[in-house]
Parts: sequence; structure tokens; C-alpha cells
Amino acid sequence: MAMSEFKAYLGARRQLIQEALMQSLPPVDSYPPQIHEAMHYSLFAGGKRLRPILVLAAGEAVNSPPEPLLPAACAVELIHTYSLIHDDLPSMDDDDFRRGKPTCHRVFGEAIALLAGDALLTQAFVCLSRSEAIEPARVIQAINELAQAAGSQGMIGSQVVDLAAEGGPAELDTVEYIHAHKTGSLIRVCLRLGGILSGAAEEQMALLTRYGEAIGLAFQITDDILDIEGDFQKTGKKTGMDTYRGKATYPACVGLEAARRKAGELCQEAAALAHELGPAAKPLFDLANYVFERQE
Ligand code: IPE
Ligand code: IPE
Ligand code: MG
Ligand code: MG
Ligand code: MG
Repeated sequence: MAMSEFKAYLGARRQLIQEALMQSLPPVDSYPPQIHEAMHYSLFAGGKRLRPILVLAAGEAVNSPPEPLLPAACAVELIHTYSLIHDDLPSMDDDDFRRGKPTCHRVFGEAIALLAGDALLTQAFVCLSRSEAIEPARVIQAINELAQAAGSQGMIGSQVVDLAAEGGPAELDTVEYIHAHKTGSLIRVCLRLGGILSGAAEEQMALLTRYGEAIGLAFQITDDILDIEGDFQKTGKKTGMDTYRGKATYPACVGLEAARRKAGELCQEAAALAHELGPAAKPLFDLANYVFERQE
């Protein structure tokens, strides 16, 4: 795909996901209004929609159309958005900006931000369970895997370690655990959901899973790099916060250049796995480069 073609692909996918996300929440004016306003505020504040795009691209790689996968794609974005709202709370990373706007708790207060996160998390499973076009056994497996990826042995577990490691020396083992789980788990499961719900063969599942692991770790390394040299206009987040908090990041541990090199290697590995999946995985191939080069 030429660069402009890939950009058009991203735009079209974002549009499809946007429309599905609008159906995935109760209307903004439903009772009680505070919570629904907060949920809509964070979900529609922007966001690259990388995770839902990966769900659809994984399905595409095994020749599935995007439409039946939209509930799963939305479910992941709902969980991701919840994780950002909680991650930004004063008791966690204490951030004031997200997706270019004041964070949820800055606008709605901490209690509503906490509850909006809870509601987005639970709504994700409402959404996923509505995968009506898909065989129920596959949907049950998807529900199970998504819950595990988000839970105490996935994303939540590593948020705990991320906080515990603040201010201490950044050991590479710890940083790799944190990154592989806090971001890696959810990204990995995107690829798996796309495969599971499309009835992918075992070898295809293995390739998709390895792709997800590589790109998941790479994505968090580039997130760390963008905290150092990113542009607020593009990332929508204040830079320098990781250094300020003494976060266990890849660049803090191995330096900026080695971090960039590692992200490059992982994205190349992911691109090679996409190549192995065949021509239908071209979007996954391009997404691997996108993750390495991203500035947003
Ligand atoms: C930010 O994720 C948090 C991480 C896990 C690194 P994204 O960079 O995908 O954030 P949005 O969804 O585009 O706002
Ligand atoms: C967040 O990691 C990962 C989540 C589970 C939300 P970060 O704390 O690095 O994400 P940003 O930089 O605030 O987006
Ligand atoms: Mg954090
Ligand atoms: Mg944070
Ligand atoms: Mg970060």
C-alpha cells in the first residue's frame, strides 16, 4: 500500500469504528446525565483507535470482513478508554491532559471519572456479548480472553508494578514485564480477538499472537519515547511526565537510542510476521511501520 493509500485506509477504518462506538454507549443524555457525559467525553475526545483497527486488520488477514468484528473492536476501545481515565487519576499518574483535552477527572471530578471508567469497562462486555453475527462458542472465548488480558495478570497487574516501580532504579526485567502487560496484553488480545472471531487456523493464530506481542511492546516503547520528544499538538499529552515521576520506562533504562533501536527491531519482526500471514495481512504490515514511525 502506498503511504496515501494507507492513510485513506486508516481514515476509513476510524470512520467505521466511530459509527460503531456511537452505538456502543447509552445516549449522552440518558439518566443519570453526569456519568453518560463523562463516558462520551473521554471516548470521543479523539484517540488513534489503533486497537480496534488491529482487531479488524487481524480479521482481514484471515479473510474476514470488518462488520461482524465491530462489537469486539469497540469493546477493546471501551476498555482502553477506561484504562486511560483511571491511569490519569491523581492517585495514579496524575495527568491533566489526555487526547488534547483536560482529563476526565479535571472536568467531572474524581468520583465521576472513577465511575465512568467502571462503566466503560462493564459496557465493553455488554458490547462484545452482542457479537450476534458470530458463533456463540467463539464469542465466549473472546470474552474470556479479553477479560484475562485486562485483569490482574494482564493490564491491571502491570499498572500495579508500574506504580510500585516509580522513583526506583529502572531494571530491564521489570520494564519489560510492565510494558508487555500494561500495553502489550491489550494489544495482543486485539489480534487474538480478530483471529478467534473469524475462525482463524491454529498457525494463523500463532502468527497473529506473536505479531501482537511484538507490536504491543514496541507501542509502549514508542509511547515512552514520545514522552521525551513528542509534540503535545500531536500526542495530546504533556511531555516529560515520565521523567518527572521517575517512571520505569525503556529510555530511562537503556537510553533513547537503544530504545528506538529496540522498537525498530520489534516492528520489523511484526512486519515479517504479517508478511508470513500472506497478502491479506498487508494492513498489518503497514501498521507495523506506522507504530514505529508514529508521532501521535
Ligand atoms: C496511550 O495509548 C496509552 C498507552 C497504552 C501507551 P494510545 O497512544 O493508543 O492512546 P489514544 O487511544 O490514541 O489516545
Ligand atoms: C498507560 O501507560 C497504560 C495503561 C494501561 C493506560 P502510560 O501511563 O505510559 O500511558 P500514558 O502515557 O499516560 O498515555
Ligand atoms: Mg501509567
Ligand atoms: Mg499515564
Ligand atoms: Mg506513557
